[in-house]
Amino acid sequence: MTGSASRTPSAERDVTGKGSPDGSRDKPVLEATGLVKLFGRVVGLRGVDLRLFPGEILAVIGDNGAGKSTLIKCLSGALTPDEGRLEIDGRQVRLKSTQEAREAGIETVYQTLAVAPALDIASNLFLAREIRRKGFAGSVLRMLDTGAMKEQASRHIKDLGISTLQNINQSVETLSGGQRQVVAVARTGAFGSKIAILDEPTAALGVRETGQVLKLVRDLRDRGLGVILISHNMPNVFETADRIHVQRLGGRAAVISPKTHSMQDAVAIMTGAMTVPESEQSLR
Ligand SMILES: Nc1ncnc2c1ncn2[C@@H]1O[C@H](COP(=O)(O)OP(=O)(O)OP(=O)(O)O)[C@@H](O)[C@H]1O
Ligand SMILES: [Mg+2]
Repeated sequence: MTGSASRTPSAERDVTGKGSPDGSRDKPVLEATGLVKLFGRVVGLRGVDLRLFPGEILAVIGDNGAGKSTLIKCLSGALTPDEGRLEIDGRQVRLKSTQEAREAGIETVYQTLAVAPALDIASNLFLAREIRRKGFAGSVLRMLDTGAMKEQASRHIKDLGISTLQNINQSVETLSGGQRQVVAVARTGAFGSKIAILDEPTAALGVRETGQVLKLVRDLRDRGLGVILISHNMPNVFETADRIHVQRLGGRAAVISPKTHSMQDAVAIMTGAMTVPESEQSLR
């Protein structure tokens, strides 16, 4: 089963520390320890650890109700964990909102797509962080510097090599589903974010569009971001992820790698049919 999954071995990628001037890809950009989240008597998370490094794609998989969304919400400021510790670049943070998480460098794309259809691509990229005009016009009249936003958006899209988005003035409602998702994912790579969290970014997409979005996800990784990818699509996960965090019943069952475990193994861990000793995990 795994034999059919093509993936890029890390040796073929640029892992020279691009995007981290001090070459510090050995230190986690995000570290969660002992996260607990209860919903009344329902256990969402029962003490979950997660470490994400710059320049890697960490997939999060697990059965329905395993705690994936709860975990992501705790990491992205949408929920406050009842217990546990969160560190970004080694510094403890308490994220009280998604806006605070964004300011700390964490961009999240939720499954319900966070783009504004009637706005053009540039405006979408700058949603909630618009550039104001200089001086009185911007600070008091709150006038937008659309020229600057378009120029930066064009540059950003060119940097990402998204050739299918040619007209920055196009409204997002006229884009294909895949292109919309590309805009949402592209947002996560803009503005010096360090961490991108993507909840099922390809769930509604066709094969070609899925390929485009996964390529963009790999580009973010290669530019030095730490990427968390939640997906139910095992072939996609095995093709894209460097490491795989398996959630089960609110806890972390194991962290494996596509190099050491097969898709059947991953499913067996998800369902509790297989356990993996820590020494055989890809914990880092
Ligand atoms: N707001 C809430 N109130 C009560 N219970 C909740 C709430 N959010 C999540 N839960 C419960 O917490 C557990 C984990 O849910 P979560 O949404 O994190 O699962 P998931 O792994 O994302 O599942 P899926 O694959 O179905 O999206 C489930 O038992 C769920 O019913
Ligand atoms: Mg979920």
